[in-house]
Amino acid sequence: MCGIVGFNGYRQAAPILLEGLSKLEYRGYDSAGLAVRNGTADVELVKAKGRLRALYEKTNGGMAMEGTLGIGHTRWATHGEPSETNAHPHCSDDRNVVAVHNGIIENYKELQEKLLRNGYRFYSQTDTEVAVKLIDYYFKKYKGGPVDAIARAMMRIRGSYALAVLFKDCPDEIYVARKDSPMVIGLAGDETYMASDVPAILKYTRSVYYIGNREIARLGKGTAEFFNIDREPVEKEPTEIKWDAEAAEKGGFEHFMIKEIHEQPKAVRDTINSAVTEEGTIDLSALQFTDEMIRNISNIQIVACGSAYHVGVAGQYVFEDLCRIPVRVELASEFRYRNPILDPDTLVIIISQSGETADSLAALREAKERGVRTLGIVNVIGSSIAREADHVFYTMAGPEIAVATTKAYSAQLICIYLLAIRFAAVRGNITEEKAAEMIAELRTLPDKIERILEDKERIQWFAAKFSTARDIFFIGRGIDYAITLEGSLKMKEVSYIHSEAYAAGELKHGTISLVEDGTLVIGSLTQKELYEKTLSNMVECKSRGAYLMGLTNYGNYSIEDTADFTVYIPRTDPHYTTSLAVIPLQLLGYYLSVTKGLNVDKPRNLAKSVTVE
Ligand code: F6R
Repeated sequence: MCGIVGFNGYRQAAPILLEGLSKLEYRGYDSAGLAVRNGTADVELVKAKGRLRALYEKTNGGMAMEGTLGIGHTRWATHGEPSETNAHPHCSDDRNVVAVHNGIIENYKELQEKLLRNGYRFYSQTDTEVAVKLIDYYFKKYKGGPVDAIARAMMRIRGSYALAVLFKDCPDEIYVARKDSPMVIGLAGDETYMASDVPAILKYTRSVYYIGNREIARLGKGTAEFFNIDREPVEKEPTEIKWDAEAAEKGGFEHFMIKEIHEQPKAVRDTINSAVTEEGTIDLSALQFTDEMIRNISNIQIVACGSAYHVGVAGQYVFEDLCRIPVRVELASEFRYRNPILDPDTLVIIISQSGETADSLAALREAKERGVRTLGIVNVIGSSIAREADHVFYTMAGPEIAVATTKAYSAQLICIYLLAIRFAAVRGNITEEKAAEMIAELRTLPDKIERILEDKERIQWFAAKFSTARDIFFIGRGIDYAITLEGSLKMKEVSYIHSEAYAAGELKHGTISLVEDGTLVIGSLTQKELYEKTLSNMVECKSRGAYLMGLTNYGNYSIEDTADFTVYIPRTDPHYTTSLAVIPLQLLGYYLSVTKGLNVDKPRNLAKSVTVE
């Protein structure tokens, strides 16, 4: 995710900004930039694509940029590829307003059109440039000063943002504003530090101010004043940071994996908002996927590896049920050597967090060579799969640092739901009313995930009880089978406990011979029509000595007659249950790993991006 730093004091700013940005490198980024102000002289801007090292070299470690006030940014692309033009800071043509931004501005297209009508020009593909020019527009139109201009822009912007802004007329001040994207301010004597994340300023001060949602701050040299969106002053008390540097990187969580598990409501919400309009309809224009293309699809092949493949398995059930289009899901490493039969109207969907997985990329190339339409569901903008696929649906998960995927998986599921609803509506399989109802329910998922996370201590307790388990079996039918595949993978990759996921009806065709006294069997039962069937498979295991954990919807309390331990998830549309049921299973894998004292963020033998066959 992008990182912001700022400094206002009496020392040279650029070296301090570079050092602050280096403390945020762990978050992942693809380009970086600085804006430094030397008294009343024009702002100096330097940007570089790639590692921070490039920016360091361009500025001689910051020494080449004079000035004691500045802002810096590391960018993780969300709108537009990684490039120097798209890197922050962005500025108005006359450099009246210069800013850096974290977050996603959902209505940037609409705002850009307004600004184009008012004579503004745009050079980058970013939503940030729109925010900068909107602030400039209000500053010049109403002449109410920086706080007024920012507040007016905030009233128009939909989405999340943390903004740090410099104004030509205010050479000694930095302005900041935020909504749903973090920002902290630290004062140390006559110096002011500002950052999107605590690690960047920890070296200078532990006493920080948190700006509230939809608040604005004016930062002088060693001073900070706060305002609400109505421009009224707000009083604030500083907070003492007690975390050490390592904990600060993880936002106070013990590991990246648990931090990212908790980031899922945001990843899901951002991905929904990237394709759902204010009126509640799905807009795939960013993917350049037209209704005619949707109508022409004869069958879908979903191709991916690992967890992304599991998204495909869930997607198969969703697409087939909603759209009545035949779907085949295949591991990329198999697809590429299978000589697949693809008719001209096949749509091949490649799912990949990194966009660089060697087998998935090879499968994409194979499909393209055969002349069929390809669609990538990808998290990393500018990655190989994103560049080469005919259409790209970006997941808005932000960079994932833990090797085991959690939030990217959840965001991928959302893309699948959105595609399936849109395809079904365009092809006449569901009414517009049904689509609207499904979109409304989709929007409830972030809060429902939040509710599941609130109950994590029960899973932690359960994990402690089973930390010495040797084998664990997961069973489920239909979508529940897809859920168990991911639950089992999460379990084995981080806890090193052998586990297997089985279609519940398949267990008695061999694997049940492995069930013995005390074996943990986890049954996922989120689908009403299949509940009794899977329950009876669980009973078969229990009668062979298994200890049963049930994972089902609130209301299915009869499960307690059979299961020894039950986790309930909120009710939702049956097509979406994967998004909720996976959360306790991610938590279970995580807590088992932690209980066993393993390196949960970097499990043995695994790499985050598998770029070899
Ligand atoms: C498991 C995991 C992997 C990836 C797989 C595909 O937690 O992260 O199974 O899902 O290696 O990676 P991407 O999505 O980058 O293609």
